[in-house]
Amino acid sequence: MSAEIISGKETAASIRENLNKRVMELRESEITPGLAVVLVGDDPASKAYVGMKDKAATEIGIYSRQITLSKDVNEDELLGVISGLNSDPDIHGILVQLPLPVHIDESKILMAIDPDKDVDGFHPINVGLLATGDKDVLAPCTPQGVIEMLMRNGHDPAGKHVVIVGRSNIVGRPLASLLLRKVSGGNATVTVAHSRTPDLGNVTQKADILVVAIGIPEFIKRDMVKPGAVVIDVGINRVEDAKHERGYRLTGDVHFDEVKEVASAISPVPGGMGPMTIAMLLSNTVDAAIRSARDRN
Ligand code: GUN
Repeated sequence: MSAEIISGKETAASIRENLNKRVMELRESEITPGLAVVLVGDDPASKAYVGMKDKAATEIGIYSRQITLSKDVNEDELLGVISGLNSDPDIHGILVQLPLPVHIDESKILMAIDPDKDVDGFHPINVGLLATGDKDVLAPCTPQGVIEMLMRNGHDPAGKHVVIVGRSNIVGRPLASLLLRKVSGGNATVTVAHSRTPDLGNVTQKADILVVAIGIPEFIKRDMVKPGAVVIDVGINRVEDAKHERGYRLTGDVHFDEVKEVASAISPVPGGMGPMTIAMLLSNTVDAAIRSARDRN
């Protein structure tokens, strides 16, 4: 039996439609949510991601500002740009695209962003609030996208055993915190496994919901998945493939063709988590704009 395909593309389109309505209402009351995305250097993948964020924001009526800096920019100049955005009333959300060049201290940059404008949810204040179960914190976009994708497709994680493979600050750790919260979309039992977990397949087989963000192409095979499990693939990898015109194909961290035969539902790559992450960035920007207006009144 082949699994239900959970389409991130369709789920994200419906979220963007709702957000578009909210943005139009806000604009009627003279509030235009504003997002600034800062790109340092000219890495093609980062450039492409930033371009997609800019386009998606503009399409739903968010004011979008893209700031591109040379890969040789020094830390003080970048801190100056962030300080300007922190005090700019037209900007409610700030995102600095990662990774940054090695001569720049990433944590120093993330700490310089006003936590109320931190639409990535990477500032230590927001990380701490999320870890302590805060219900209103600006949370990282990809893990929020995982939860929205599950909820909107009828797979509430409450009471389920969710196994997360990967312990990154962008996905694994914040996803565990979100799933543990006592709110809708939370209340799960959570296991975080990673590259150093012995007998990983034995752990992943216990999952009712398996979320994979380990960064290894097609790492999760059929025998690592419990029959009937729901599988969310957060990975996006380029794999050389001479059969494709561009010389590579995109694939996730899950062996899709094998796992779809055993799972009850599975998200594809591409068309899975990518569009969801962008939708959550827009959602965080709208939330930040609403809060900023509320705080002013
Ligand atoms: N690079 C890869 N994913 C992300 C993300 O979610 N936010 C930022 N700022 N950079 C990234």
